[in-house]
Amino acid sequence: MQFDTIITRRGTGSIKWDRRPELDPFWVADMDFVSPPCVLDAIQDRLSHGVLGYAQAHAGISEAVLNYLQNRHGATISENALVHLGGLVPALSLAARGFTEPGDNLMTCTPVYYPFLHVGKDAKIDTIAIPHILQGGRWTFDFEEMEKQVSSKTKIFILCNPQNPLGRNFTKAEIVKVADFCDRHQLILVSDEIHCDLVLNEPDQAFFSALNLPQRLRQRLVVLQAPSKTYNIAGMGYAFAVIENPSVRSTFCATRGHTLSEINCLAFYAAEAAYKHGEPWRQELLTYLKKNRDTLTQFVHTELPGCSIPDIEATYLALIDTREAGMKNPAQYLEKDAKVWVNDGAAFGAPDHFRFNYGCPHARVLEGIDKIKASFDRYKR
Ligand SMILES: Cc1ncc(COP(=O)(O)O)c(C=O)c1O
Repeated sequence: MQFDTIITRRGTGSIKWDRRPELDPFWVADMDFVSPPCVLDAIQDRLSHGVLGYAQAHAGISEAVLNYLQNRHGATISENALVHLGGLVPALSLAARGFTEPGDNLMTCTPVYYPFLHVGKDAKIDTIAIPHILQGGRWTFDFEEMEKQVSSKTKIFILCNPQNPLGRNFTKAEIVKVADFCDRHQLILVSDEIHCDLVLNEPDQAFFSALNLPQRLRQRLVVLQAPSKTYNIAGMGYAFAVIENPSVRSTFCATRGHTLSEINCLAFYAAEAAYKHGEPWRQELLTYLKKNRDTLTQFVHTELPGCSIPDIEATYLALIDTREAGMKNPAQYLEKDAKVWVNDGAAFGAPDHFRFNYGCPHARVLEGIDKIKASFDRYKR
């Protein structure tokens, strides 16, 4: 099984493995798997041409993205609406800068992928962070609190769906309600859907993209997607925005100014191949990730008394709550005691939680949880 192969990443300039080589890494959100052969072949083909000058989107990439949006999400998008980007986080910053003035604010819900909490600084605006709430065992939006805190200064809402780090794949009803909230308050809705091809219980829990909202709710919509998480090509740098409203799109694009570099010429070809030919590989990946998720979930339930883990519907990331177990700063403790590197939940707005990345060979998950178990046992003593 290709996903079982343990590949040495140390010494390859990997953020995950080389930043703190003394630690065993289960942190930053990339996977320890080789990308699909179709993607590697496309990169090699382009590379073998040998001339690597400035690149623009070739016909194949736009065609691949538009077909993908049609076939996977049932969204018919015109090519004009497509904005190619070298990464998704810069797009969050562009949105924050483009649609606000100093003194405005943006709203998002926590815990959330930490750049959501910081792009407001790029725009010199405040960030209103509304904690997600547990309802019937599932994390959802606190619409009451959102209504209380929204004001005429609030200009954008940044949504993370599927949710990193809670692993929720929000339902159509939830997304429609978020979009309706944004519409009533005239907010730009930025929907970060980078994890949308990592819904583990497909097709039973299909992903609902904001691109499928009714037209009246798509007037101020910026949808952001990328093949980078699913096909493990985050280091290539490619993402795209779909912005149907021309005036919203031109504001977004005008904000780029001279702040973004040209897109990597190899990345276009990697992304094209992923979307055109990566589906069988993605299916195998989902099966593999489900096994890792189930092992990790079972481990937390049976071996870490007092800790909890949400029902993970999507992503290869798990946010584990150690508060009931009486453990403060678990990420710091695990780093010191077990030399295991996990993300500190505090960065996402969830102190006393840690985020574990199970996008790795199963044997590595077992190694990680063994170390965590031994370390928790030492903590109790
Ligand atoms: C929700 C979310 N958005 C964006 C990113 C990063 O996107 P990019 O590498 O394209 O900037 C991540 C990476 O973990 C993420 O989880």
